[in-house]
Amino acid sequence: MLGRNSGQGRLVVVSNRVALPDQTATGGLASAMRAALQERGGLWFGWSGKVARQTGGDVHRQKDGVVEYATIDLSRSDHDDFYDGFANRTLWPLLHYRPDLVDYDRKHLAGYLRVNNLFAEQLMSLIGPQDLVWINDYHLIPLAAMLRGRGIRNRIGFFLHTPLPAAGLLITLPRHRELLETLASYDLVGLHTPRDRRALEEYFLHEVGATMRRDGRLQTPSGRMFRAEAFPIGIDTHEVAESASHADEHEEIHQLRQSLEGRALIIGVDRLDYSKGLPERFQAYARLLERSPQLHRKVTFLQIAPPSRGGVPEYRQIRRELERSAGHINGMYAAPDWVPIRYVNNSFSHDLLTGYYRTARVGLVTPLRDGMNLVAKEYVASQDPRNPGVLVLSRFAGAAQELTEALLVNPSDTEEVAEALGIALTMPLHERRNRWRRMMEVLEKQDVTAWRNAFLQHLAP
Ligand code: UDP
Ligand code: G6P
Repeated sequence: MLGRNSGQGRLVVVSNRVALPDQTATGGLASAMRAALQERGGLWFGWSGKVARQTGGDVHRQKDGVVEYATIDLSRSDHDDFYDGFANRTLWPLLHYRPDLVDYDRKHLAGYLRVNNLFAEQLMSLIGPQDLVWINDYHLIPLAAMLRGRGIRNRIGFFLHTPLPAAGLLITLPRHRELLETLASYDLVGLHTPRDRRALEEYFLHEVGATMRRDGRLQTPSGRMFRAEAFPIGIDTHEVAESASHADEHEEIHQLRQSLEGRALIIGVDRLDYSKGLPERFQAYARLLERSPQLHRKVTFLQIAPPSRGGVPEYRQIRRELERSAGHINGMYAAPDWVPIRYVNNSFSHDLLTGYYRTARVGLVTPLRDGMNLVAKEYVASQDPRNPGVLVLSRFAGAAQELTEALLVNPSDTEEVAEALGIALTMPLHERRNRWRRMMEVLEKQDVTAWRNAFLQHLAP
């Protein structure tokens, strides 16, 4: 039966973004949940990615192997208020430590609650009494409370794919308690790192007046009990390494390699998002060129940055800024036969990305804040064990807690990032191998299957 384990019902995964079969899933959540469901199977419910006349309407269902998909459309106003509005103009900047970008609008909050209610309504007919329900990310914080209000007694878990800032920042959100206290309706709340978990516990202890029970669960004044735990998300390490080892079979990879004409490649792959530190990264690369004339014509920086959330003004703004910056740097340093930055606003399949990563001597991953950052892990897993590249990684990505053998940098420190790039480009083979091996050991142990199993074991012990 679909996704059933002995004695348990199905796994029902709920998230706003769903990686439908044959779609390129840009975004860590979609990549990870796709990998997590592939083997165990289950139902994946969420937004179809389409805007239609009304929210909900027909549930679009399709099946691919052991995974069943059920998606709904959003109306224009629900999309604008819920997705562009409260989720991506209020919660996203807040959770990424950017209170300066938080735009709070009661109309957006109303839209957010409306869509969460609609998800709850639709889920009522999809959830069986024994099913395990796994709700994901900041779009759907109050969903469990809405399901409980409708009588759902199943085990329900929540995983937050973003960082969680300390209480001092969370309380800047108007009516924060009304929203965040609903997390207590889950049985388990998973976060990427122990720091995120501590932030949640402190918020509940100091702002909500919860107490910590001996069994490690938090109990709110109203009596609800839940557990908060850190589960660092992983990738399908074996699959990524396997796919990278076949990179040669893709024409596109040959074309990239040929076009480099022996130059060292630095690669960045990020959704076009202000949390990814792209302007700072471009500046650091410019600084590298400025201080290292011997690298001119010897190095190429490929930044893949598929546009994201184009309905939100801050995303349009960062896109314009990067176009200017790439143009400026190329204008300063380019030669008739050399373009220092190749800036590409397209998305690519996982298969191709693994080949691009493997071609690159340096993976440059410098978000200002990131829950985990799967690109950093994919870069490492894609390397050729005989001649691996070097990862330059922001200290403020969750992945830095595990990938301690990367060259860790502060993404705002232009000089430090430029220096790390210089070190990475000249690092001797034995050091590259040693660092890579140790990172790979972590990735093999803590892959996406281990992550999924740990979360589900805690949810339904
Ligand atoms: N990704 C992709 N194609 C692209 C760009 C990105 O499939 O053109 C994937 C990438 O491989 C990774 C995910 O999108 O699995 C990005 O996840 P990450 O955690 O790095 O960042 P997020 O976008 O979730 O903030
Ligand atoms: C981050 C969020 C995910 C989201 C992804 C892509 O990883 O944590 O919830 O799916 O970005 O963003 P999008 O808005 O396109 O779904």
